[in-house]
Amino acid sequence: MAKQKTSMKSGDGRKAMAGKPAGGSTKSPSSSKSGMGLFDLLKKDHDTVKGLFEQIQGESKKANKETLFSKIEKELEIHMEGEEKYFYPALGESEEAREHVLEAYEEHRVAKTLLEEASGLNKEDERWDAKIKVLCELVDHHIEEEEGELFKVAKDVLDEERRQEIARQIKENKEQMTGL
Ligand SMILES: [Fe+2]
Ligand SMILES: [Fe+2]
Repeated sequence: MAKQKTSMKSGDGRKAMAGKPAGGSTKSPSSSKSGMGLFDLLKKDHDTVKGLFEQIQGESKKANKETLFSKIEKELEIHMEGEEKYFYPALGESEEAREHVLEAYEEHRVAKTLLEEASGLNKEDERWDAKIKVLCELVDHHIEEEEGELFKVAKDVLDEERRQEIARQIKENKEQMTGL
């Protein structure tokens, strides 16, 4: 079975999105209808995690590294669970999205492994810094692909109502996990 390869790398994804007059940005057009839209909600988490990675990589005190690492662990755990429970399965129903979704699951899996390994190391061990650096690069790459290709496909295959529903489910899941 010859599978047509239509893989777009992130640069192409952005170009393709820029060609669209509406919805070219990652902002959801009717995100105000019932709270924050799905893409804005996920992007907010991405920005939080990116900020934490920036902080942790500039940190030298062990205690601060530990505090920041705990925050990153928690943020990523909650975010990945929300995506895996609600966002990815909804996208996986579409043939168009399948390749991107499978790749995203793999990246989550590698991120979880690195988190677990880093968690077991002393924060003063130089291997810990190396792991954090690789984890940060992986997460950066993953975020870039999600906000580019994956969000673009999601706009095509999920209507606004479905996106609002997924955003609500992810928010509820997060509230349950954080006990808010
Ligand atoms: Fe994400
Ligand atoms: Fe993700």
